[in-house]
Amino acid sequence: MTDRTFDIPNRDSADVGVTGMGVMGSQLARNLARHGHAVAVHNVTPDLTEALVRDHGSEGTFIPADEMADFVASLKRPRVVIVMVIAGDITDQVIDRVAEYLEPGDIVVDCGNALYTDTIRRERALRERGLLFCGAGVSGGAVGALEGPSIMPGCTDEAYDRVGPLLESIAATVDGEPCCTHISTDGSGHYVKMVHNGIEYADMQLIAEAYDLMRRGLAKEPAELAEVFRAWNETALESYLIEITAAVLAKVDEETGRPLVDVIVDEAGQKGTGRWTVQDALDLGVPVTGIAEATFARALSSSIPQRRAGAELAPLAEDFTVADPDAFVEDVRRALYAAKVVAYSQGFDQITAAAVEYDWTIDRGALARIWRDGCIIRARFLDEISAAYAADKPTVTASAGADTRAPEAETADAQGSTGGVESVPLLLAAPNLRASVEECIPALRRVVARAASAGLPVPALSASLAYYDGVRSERLPAALIQGLRDYFGSHTYARIDREGTYHTRWAQDGAEERVK
Ligand code: 6PG
Repeated sequence: MTDRTFDIPNRDSADVGVTGMGVMGSQLARNLARHGHAVAVHNVTPDLTEALVRDHGSEGTFIPADEMADFVASLKRPRVVIVMVIAGDITDQVIDRVAEYLEPGDIVVDCGNALYTDTIRRERALRERGLLFCGAGVSGGAVGALEGPSIMPGCTDEAYDRVGPLLESIAATVDGEPCCTHISTDGSGHYVKMVHNGIEYADMQLIAEAYDLMRRGLAKEPAELAEVFRAWNETALESYLIEITAAVLAKVDEETGRPLVDVIVDEAGQKGTGRWTVQDALDLGVPVTGIAEATFARALSSSIPQRRAGAELAPLAEDFTVADPDAFVEDVRRALYAAKVVAYSQGFDQITAAAVEYDWTIDRGALARIWRDGCIIRARFLDEISAAYAADKPTVTASAGADTRAPEAETADAQGSTGGVESVPLLLAAPNLRASVEECIPALRRVVARAASAGLPVPALSASLAYYDGVRSERLPAALIQGLRDYFGSHTYARIDREGTYHTRWAQDGAEERVK
């Protein structure tokens, strides 16, 4: 018998249970309790449960339990158990453990940053046991978890009917509307959370590049640049990440008296969601170049032997001093805005393609609406994105981008084919965004050109510009690539002037033949 820290809890009395009392789990439990839900709380080691009840017990009704069996027994039936643990094997272990005590009809909600394929697998496994499963992406960090996160649940309608109201009650709100909506089935919630994080990577990299350009070009101290970001937060760039950029840049290290940003080691870490986004985009054949460059920029920052060797290479190409600082700052601001729209556009393309691949019905307008508050990428311009997608039919069945998994001969036909309900095939060209993007593109061009000639790395800004120029090009040099592929590998090509699939007998008589 294990020693019990708590009395055996009241049976069947808690509205919801939370297992995993780390920072996110305990904040979520407090949020639930503050909203009037009686919350059963559990952790594999009781110390964290004890600390929560000791420090925050007065905030609502908590029913603590040391043992999983007691935790489950304290829940009203049908039971709702939220799992909030580090994503990966631990999630499987905790779900297996809790499921031992659950009964058909009970529901498990995984609020961690799970990989969506794991969520699909877990949903199937629990369904076979008669249990319901919801994979809910939760964004907003520790403060968001407590004060109102953005929540992206993926589950069946039956499961959402049960847990939706509970989750909506603790989410952030915009104009009284909760930042929580039923995304679609199984892994869809964790999928859109993954892409949210990919966009978060792009957003942060773009901000970092803007900072670097101004720091080096204007010779301004971080504290002065904090003021620039503060001012930008009053413009179309208004967002949580711009707001906290100002705070980070303004921070002085107590020990050295130097700007904290100058004391922090310049190697960016990552837990994996950005990498997953890019890996999945590659599989889907969706160009998420802003997110990819942001992820690789983190990898480059941590490539220490390479950076040491690279530091021996020739210095900056030219002196980087800016003649008109105000005009330059405004150019960088506009460049950041245009590149940010590109990153979101690419991220929504990926979600659209995944909806087709996994047969999810995703309302992109509703998704943009729940990202307006609570989450890390919350930003004023999500109003524009939700407005852009407002005319979307709720069913997303159209193909966004080439499906590289399609059989080769069918690829040309598959490209651009639509199931017919997308109102906005390209977010950055949406009627309500197009003008503001086009207005900012000349500034993005000037900034990227300036950075290139000065030898400053702006991978996300330049990839965004290249994407913009690629997607707006009527004709791309991909035709030459098709010719080359046909030359060395008989991979065939389509012609602009007639149907069919063709091959040229390059090494023989040079004549063209119709293959299909
Ligand atoms: C959020 C954050 C959150 C977390 C990321 C950071 O939406 O609340 O995205 O999920 O901070 O895991 O990821 P990296 O460690 O990979 O930057």
